[in-house]
This record gives sequence, structure tokens and C-alpha cells, in this order.
Amino acid sequence: MKKEINIGLLGFGTVGSGVAKIIHSHQQDLQYKLGVEVSIKKVLVKNIEKERETVLAKDVFTNRLDEVLSDPSIDIIIEVMGGTTEGKEAIQQALYAGKAVVTANKDVMAEYGQELLRLADEKKCDLFYEASVGGGIPLIRTMEEGLAADRITALTGIINGTTNFILTKMKHENMSYEDALAEATALGFAEADPSADVDGIDAQRKMVILASLAFSTEIKLEDVFVRGLKEIQPGDLELAARFGYTMKMVGSAAKNEDGIEVAVEPVFFQNSHPLASVNNEYNAVYIYGDTVGETMFYGPGAGSLPTATSVTADVVAACRNILLGVNGKRHHAPQYERKIKTNCEMFARYFHRIVVQDEVGVLTKLTGIYSDHGASLASVIQHPDTNDEGAELVFITHKISRQQHLDVLATLKDTPEVLNVLSHYRVEGDES
Ligand code: HSE
Repeated sequence: MKKEINIGLLGFGTVGSGVAKIIHSHQQDLQYKLGVEVSIKKVLVKNIEKERETVLAKDVFTNRLDEVLSDPSIDIIIEVMGGTTEGKEAIQQALYAGKAVVTANKDVMAEYGQELLRLADEKKCDLFYEASVGGGIPLIRTMEEGLAADRITALTGIINGTTNFILTKMKHENMSYEDALAEATALGFAEADPSADVDGIDAQRKMVILASLAFSTEIKLEDVFVRGLKEIQPGDLELAARFGYTMKMVGSAAKNEDGIEVAVEPVFFQNSHPLASVNNEYNAVYIYGDTVGETMFYGPGAGSLPTATSVTADVVAACRNILLGVNGKRHHAPQYERKIKTNCEMFARYFHRIVVQDEVGVLTKLTGIYSDHGASLASVIQHPDTNDEGAELVFITHKISRQQHLDVLATLKDTPEVLNVLSHYRVEGDES
């Protein structure tokens, strides 16, 4: 009977140091839950001389991965060092060494998740990755266990804390995009290269992880339609508010008999939609199941201790499996073939903001463009603050295909009376 479980921690940055804090401060609770002591035996860092504020002894730190992986007393490897290539290689080596692995590395799991899960199955070792999506919200475990009996049909959510923080500060505090991004970076929410947040890449990776699991299909990065925040135009947030919407950067995925669609984009949510009131760095994800219906999960999507909480929960799960002798007894192969919908098979409502020549007959010409493409309009509004350039018009469509939306925009851009197609967004919420 094991008396202790030892951990090799790869990385001691924001998340790694949080994990060490939690394991230390919650040691009694962990022992009570598991019946064994959980200790961090070794920590891999680049610089062992660096001064660190930690309860861990200095000789725990090493700069040699092989020293961690070859230690037979280490049962679980936590990979929180980041980096796609190094992260992947470290996870592979740990699995080859027969260790259970816990990772928070969304870049690795989005790009190589299926390959690594297959390797974990083959090596009969657990590979857990709860912290790769949604910071402290238990999303992966909820889908794998809580909703195990259901068939997930769709999910939609705010899964990037930085962009949600930026949009919140811009809307509620009138902060500029640049200042809000600088504050998110200072608070430690943003990625090392924050363009991964604002260009939607971080959310794209998270959607690959969530959609692959939700639909038991290998979703690839190129399957996700991605549109970042940089295309937002001055006045878009105010205009959204004027029409009763809130702009949110969301990831969405859905599956029906035609296939799967996955997207990351700024969306106009009706203010009554619960996602419209999820603010700051908080994340929230709706999961729709065939039998459960609609469920919503909310919590901190970034930050040291929330993310470390998810990592440590995975450690608890790995410990339990080790103690029960069922480590790595999972089967991860996707159940379904990958079938991604074409633009003609994805339907949504759209908001188009257009500047046109302020002349007789222009509105008729434009509505004609929508009807020529079979795109039905729900509202047409002339913005009262018509600008110097011309008259500003807002069109909100009924549900149309993404292809119809793109075709309408292309035709509008080629129309001489159209001076500028300023912005366009998908619209979510009940039709009014
Ligand atoms: N940069 C990420 C975010 C961190 O803002 O959500 C958590 O994955």
C-alpha cells in the first residue's frame, strides 16, 4: 500500500508556483481525501539560482528534465512550463517513463492532444488537462463525467479572460483598447504574446480541445473559423448598446446531421442573454445536451490560483487512479469521423453597419442586394448620428447562411453607393 504520492513539477511560473502553494496549504485536506501524503519531489526550472518565494526546499529545484523523469519515486508529472515543442516532448517522455501526466498546456493539447491521448492509452498512463480550458472552471471533467450519459449538441462561451476583460473595461469604464490590454497584461491574464488573446488564437486552441471532447471527434485548428478583436470599429460597442446588445468574444461549436461547426468571433449578445453579463476576466460556458438541456458553467478563466486549482484537481484524480490501480485504464480514441460544415451549412443572424451615399433610392438598392442573395432582413435602421461621410445604416438579418452573409458583404463592397462596410457581427439571442 502506497504511503505517499510524489510529483515532478515541470515549470515554476504563474501556474506552477500556484500549484506548489495549493499542495502545501491544502496538504491536510488532500491527505484526508486520498489517504496518502502528496509531495512535490522535484521542480524543473531554467535557472536554479534564481531567488524564489516558496516553501519548497532549494534542493528540490533542478534544471535537468531527465533527473525528474528518471526518478522512480515520482508518480505524477505536472507540465506547466508552456511552449508547444518542449511541452509536447516533455509530456511524451513522461508517458514513456510510465508517469501519469497533468498538463495546463492548451497549445500542446490543441495541436497534439489526440496523439498524446493515444500515447497515454498505449502506455497505460493517465493524461489530464482540465486547466487547459476555462482556468478554474471544471469543464473537461464536467463533460467527461457529469455529462457522460448525454450527447452534447452545442457549446458556446466566453473562454478568453483577456478579451472579456478588455471588452468589459471598454464598455463600463470607457477605457481605450490599448489601456485595457495593458491592464490585463499587468494582471497576468494575457498570454506571453497577447496577440494570441486578441486575435482569437488562444480561444481557437481552447475550442479545439472542447469541441473534440464534446463531439468525440478529432477537431483540428484549421476547422475553427477565427476572427479577433482588432476589426472592431470606433462606435461599435456604443451601437451594440443602443440596439440592446453587448459585444462578447465567444467560442461556439455545434453539431447536427450536416456536421460540425466551430467558431471564435466577437458576437452581439442580446442584453438579456446570461453571457452578456459575464464581465472582467471571468469565463462562462453554456453546454447544451440532448437530454440535460441547457447548462451553464461560470468562473475565473485565468490567473495563478484558479488555474492551479484545476491542475491540482487533476493531480487528485491521478492519485486516486494510482491508488485504485486503474491509472491509464481509459480509452480516448474519437468515436466519430470528422465532418466540418461548409459556409452554406452554418446559419446565424448578422448585424451589418454600412456607410452609404445619403441619396434617394439607395436604401431600396441595398435591400435589393439582400433579397437577391435570399437574405431576409429583420430590421433596417438609419443611425441618427449619420457621419460626415454619408448616412450610416444598420441591417440586422434573420437567420442566413455564413455564405449568404459573406456574399452580401462582397456585393455591398462592390456597390458604388456604398462608401464603407464598417463592421459586421453575428447576433445571438431571441429574435425580437
Ligand atoms: N490568456 C488566457 C486568457 C489565459 O486570457 O484567458 C488563460 O488561458
